[in-house]
Amino acid sequence: MQKLMILGSQGMLGMELTYYFQNKYEIIPLDYFNLDITNKKLVQKTVEKYKPDFVINAAAYTDVERAEAKHERKIAMEVNAEAVGYLAEACSQRGIDFTQISTDYVFDGTKGEVYCEDDLTNPLNVYGTSKLLGEQKVLEWANLNPNWNYYIVRTAWLYGQYGPNFVKKMLHFGKKKKEVKVVEDQHGSPTWTLDLVKGVKKILENEKYEKGIYHLTGLGEATWADLTEEIYRLKNIKIPVLRVNSGEFPQVAKRPSYSVLQNTKGPPMTIWQDMLAEYLK
Ligand SMILES: NC(=O)c1ccc[n+]([C@@H]2O[C@H](COP(=O)([O-])OP(=O)(O)OC[C@H]3O[C@@H](n4cnc5c(N)ncnc54)[C@H](OP(=O)(O)O)[C@@H]3O)[C@@H](O)[C@H]2O)c1
Repeated sequence: MQKLMILGSQGMLGMELTYYFQNKYEIIPLDYFNLDITNKKLVQKTVEKYKPDFVINAAAYTDVERAEAKHERKIAMEVNAEAVGYLAEACSQRGIDFTQISTDYVFDGTKGEVYCEDDLTNPLNVYGTSKLLGEQKVLEWANLNPNWNYYIVRTAWLYGQYGPNFVKKMLHFGKKKKEVKVVEDQHGSPTWTLDLVKGVKKILENEKYEKGIYHLTGLGEATWADLTEEIYRLKNIKIPVLRVNSGEFPQVAKRPSYSVLQNTKGPPMTIWQDMLAEYLK
């Protein structure tokens, strides 16, 4: 059986990856407590010890707001940029297939239409900047090792069975509140972690998907308000959704107002409404 090392295995996506792949591969699930990916020596040692065939990095500093604080910025950069370089180095030197999970926040949203894989990046916040630097580290090691298989999979607006997320929060509000105010001036693509993992599996296992950057999200676009209305429609929750601008919820980190990702070459994905309906069944 081939060995798959999953980093960030206790996170929302990491858990989905770990459970989904458990019968297909010998899984090596590692989280912060087994392997702090910012420890370069330990990264090398761990990869050498387990000799995986594949590595998927779902470990990340994901608190977009907190990352803006001066002392947190350094940590976000270490985890999302430097450490990705350590992983890419360890994998590229040993010819281990490497998948880095990235984000729609590498774009600034000013294009006004969907973003393709090779569109110009320009992150608006620290988190997006750190994730983009992580992508660049992978590309640097890929340049040095032209035969190495690497995949950078950008995704967005994740929800799923494991860990807290927007869909769970809105379901909770649906039970507790008389109305909810939800932002309607940010457009993105809601994505179920299970569908994302299925897409990643296809990329890893099908040779027609060559190394490079992929966009895997639910098909179509929504605002957070659209997503909430759809959740409530599907679960027959009757409270009103009040559509507001993001100014109603002041945030430190700037977000792109339009970060819908176009999937021009990856495995076909499901329409976001159908994904959500399946998740909420
Ligand atoms: N959630 C979204 O909507 C979304 C959208 C686009 C892209 N993404 C990307 O998808 C991936 C998975 O995100 P997620 O939502 O599953 O995040 P998550 O739930 O926050 O999981 C991230 C995991 O990484 C771990 N981690 C943090 N620092 C680490 C370190 N130094 N060494 C080892 N592990 C460390 C965390 O452990 P602790 O909890 O112990 O810190 C956590 O288990 C990330 O690359 C993220 O950027 C997410």
